Amino acid sequence: MTQPTAPDIFAADQRSRWLSDHPGIWSRQGADLDAIPTLSILTTLWDQPRWLEAYHLYDELGSELFEAICDLPEYYLTRTENSILEANAKNIIAAAPVECIVELGAGYSKKTVHLLSEQVRQRGLCIFAPIDVSVAGLLASKASVQKDFPQLEFHGIHARYEDGFSAIEKSLPTLFVFLGSTIGNFNQTEFPRFFRALSAAMGPNDYLLLGADRVKPVKLLEDAYNDSRGITAEFILNVFRNINRLLGGNFDLNQIGYHSWFNPHWQQIEMYAVASTAQEIYFRDANAGFQWRHDEKILVEISRKFEPNRLQEQLGFFGLTPVEHFTDPNEWFSVLLFRKQN
Ligand code: AVJ
Repeated sequence: MTQPTAPDIFAADQRSRWLSDHPGIWSRQGADLDAIPTLSILTTLWDQPRWLEAYHLYDELGSELFEAICDLPEYYLTRTENSILEANAKNIIAAAPVECIVELGAGYSKKTVHLLSEQVRQRGLCIFAPIDVSVAGLLASKASVQKDFPQLEFHGIHARYEDGFSAIEKSLPTLFVFLGSTIGNFNQTEFPRFFRALSAAMGPNDYLLLGADRVKPVKLLEDAYNDSRGITAEFILNVFRNINRLLGGNFDLNQIGYHSWFNPHWQQIEMYAVASTAQEIYFRDANAGFQWRHDEKILVEISRKFEPNRLQEQLGFFGLTPVEHFTDPNEWFSVLLFRKQN
């Protein structure tokens, strides 16, 4: 099969480096996304305290469990952000005159649909290019977009966020969309690295739409991450099922507890796995292991909470100027629009 040429959403010097492995989905030549998880898991599990990068949570079952979390009564984030986008999509698209929408994370969600349909209504033309590490997610997104918006040009980018957005042509007016408060997963090192790279990848006509969960009374926050049905616990502990599969590991899911709390000093929910008995962990495929002590905690995920004004000031230092701030009547969640300063 001859390779189609990469579309001009990619910068000219990038086009030859992106290959299509499925129609409409682009991967960078030679990038081995499968090699990365193993190294990530081994290194962070040997840290003190032991921890994991959040993206290991999203295997097939993990993605389904996260969908179930989004519908939980305690998990206010998804429906609150959706209501903000539904109410303001018209203003957001009017304020960001772009030809292309790049979404970080494949989720072809109700939320993205509000933006895409407004873009089609106001401008008639648009490219939609989601960036995600999951081909399955991109293929699902492509099928739905082509069905609901035949006018849209779809290009799925199979890559980590930074590899994806830094390949986008800077002269193409683009709205980068990063929803769901996924930035809450980034720790103090990952956060500035991410925004430095994103800002550097943005051209003079580009915008960023960012969804951020806000600081609020502790009970509301803690209930959202410790639901009465135990779905969040299942989601967090499923990471060990995924790791067992990836590395030939022997985590015993029946001997692991879930503990989460809001750390007020760091303004973040911390989600831990706790060994209910001592476990001799061994990874067959890596010929490595460690002793997981009774009651020892592994930090599986953090979810940071933000103060929107402070976040706007902070992103200002990365060359991102606040354009508008959208929130809900309770002020539980913020959707922030920025443009690249030039
Ligand atoms: C997808 C990172 C936004 O932090 O609220 C939900 C993930 N973890 N429940 C969040 C999550 C447990 C979620 N984000």
